[in-house]
Amino acid sequence: MSCREATAADLDAVVALELVCFAEDPWTWGMLKDELTRPGGVFIVVGEPGRPVAFAIGWAVLDELHVLQVAVDPSARRRGLGRELMDELVARSPAAENAWLEVRRDNVAAIGLYEALDYRAVGCRPRYYTDGCDALLLRRPLTRR
Ligand SMILES: CC(C)(COP(=O)(O)OP(=O)(O)OC[C@H]1O[C@@H](n2cnc3c(N)ncnc32)[C@H](O)[C@@H]1OP(=O)(O)O)[C@@H](O)C(=O)NCCC(=O)NCCS
Repeated sequence: MSCREATAADLDAVVALELVCFAEDPWTWGMLKDELTRPGGVFIVVGEPGRPVAFAIGWAVLDELHVLQVAVDPSARRRGLGRELMDELVARSPAAENAWLEVRRDNVAAIGLYEALDYRAVGCRPRYYTDGCDALLLRRPLTRR
């Protein structure tokens, strides 16, 4: 399986992934639909049309890539899909010089993924999430050859 651009046919399955992966604050169908046409937006999935098992959303704004969402169905984790999606967001944002993201301080899997990809914490937003958890702000300089 390889990454491809998301389509409207994928939205129901992505909503289902949102509910499984981000149960406390899932994006809605309408929010996700807007991402299909956002200027500078990158919305990619892995899986058959209408049946993605993983997805990621980024915004390429001037020389920055903002990683907003990356999620893999629990049954498909630890097979490299998270890494593949993160690499593809960067590949599809050719003008970006830095990638930025926020992650819950207690999200061990996501922090493991980001650290493996050379993202480093550059700040903290105390009690950023509704349950009081801090957000770590991570940055990765993007060197391209
Ligand atoms: C975070 C997430 C996207 C990782 O996806 P994945 O497909 O399992 O990740 P990969 O298989 O590509 O893992 C790549 C590397 O990340 C690190 N990693 C991944 N999961 C990890 C875990 N549970 N604990 C520690 N490190 C982990 C490892 O270094 C791994 O390499 P390895 O498998 O060779 O050891 C997935 O766990 C997920 O969807 N979580 C719920 C949604 C979420 O929290 N998203 C991030 C919000 S900021």
